[in-house]
Amino acid sequence: MDVASTLVLARWGYFLSVMILFGSTLFPFYALNRSGTASRAQQPRGINLALALATIAFAGVWLVSFAAGLTDREGTLEALSGVLLETGFGPVWIARISLVILLLGASLWGPPGFVPAITFLILTCEGWQGHAAVWGIVGSLSQAVHVAAAAAWIGGLVPLGRLIVAARRDPTATAEVVTALGRFSSMGVAAVALIAVTGALNTWQMLGGVPDPGDAYGRVLLIKISLFAAMVCLALHNRYFLLEKRMKVAPAQGLRTLSRNVLLEQILGFAVLLDVSALGLMAPNM
Ligand code: HEM
Repeated sequence: MDVASTLVLARWGYFLSVMILFGSTLFPFYALNRSGTASRAQQPRGINLALALATIAFAGVWLVSFAAGLTDREGTLEALSGVLLETGFGPVWIARISLVILLLGASLWGPPGFVPAITFLILTCEGWQGHAAVWGIVGSLSQAVHVAAAAAWIGGLVPLGRLIVAARRDPTATAEVVTALGRFSSMGVAAVALIAVTGALNTWQMLGGVPDPGDAYGRVLLIKISLFAAMVCLALHNRYFLLEKRMKVAPAQGLRTLSRNVLLEQILGFAVLLDVSALGLMAPNM
């Protein structure tokens, strides 16, 4: 596999693992009742640990393949120390590596709030990395909010999906799903609004206008925006049709459609992350 493809896949693996970890460990804090039923959606420590290890592994492959892309095979180690110690984004990489090591400890021994807090800090590193590194403080903050809001949504779909599957097996959990979906949707409305506004700001930072389908960067961004629009349509259908109507008259059927829609929303979200794993490495043909 060539260095460029390795870089895209490593970034995808990195975004998938750190975003699922953030969204799924944040979910219990806003979507679940504090009483007895938390266990159905609570993420086992083993899964948090596996996602933390995946985050470290993919961050490592990303960094090494980035350095390898700057030189020939012999010079990779030298390029690596050069990237970390002699570039403007070296300190961001050092911060990210330190935080993912801290994350490992938090996923093993930390109280439940530590994992979402540390993964939030890891996600904000994107504001001072790649294209965003030259966007100034407003641009960097916009990118940090963009990535964190996207992670809350895409990562939160995992425990929500788990809860729906549990309720299909045990109908006594249906009330918990209705509560969690209502609260998740309210978080989702805020996340979608933040993603759209910061996405538009990022687009303006990169292009100074709307994406041009005649340009490769523009096409990849337009695909991303279309996937985002499809996700929003599914989320609106879940909220205003399935939750408000179908779940009240036919809960079993509602749960079946809901589990399919949440899975589809999840797959579209993973496709957006693959798209942006390439987009962040491309330059608009200005
Ligand atoms: C579910 C929806 C979305 C997700 C998961 C998402 C995720 C991301 C991520 C992870 C990055 C950082 C990439 C990096 O650091 O290299 C990013 C950057 C960006 N996003 Fe989004 N985003 C979403 C929606 C949008 C929308 C709707 C727009 C446009 C309106 C948008 C425009 C951008 C732009 C222009 C960048 C900068 C890319 C670059 O560095 O060249 N995003 N997005």
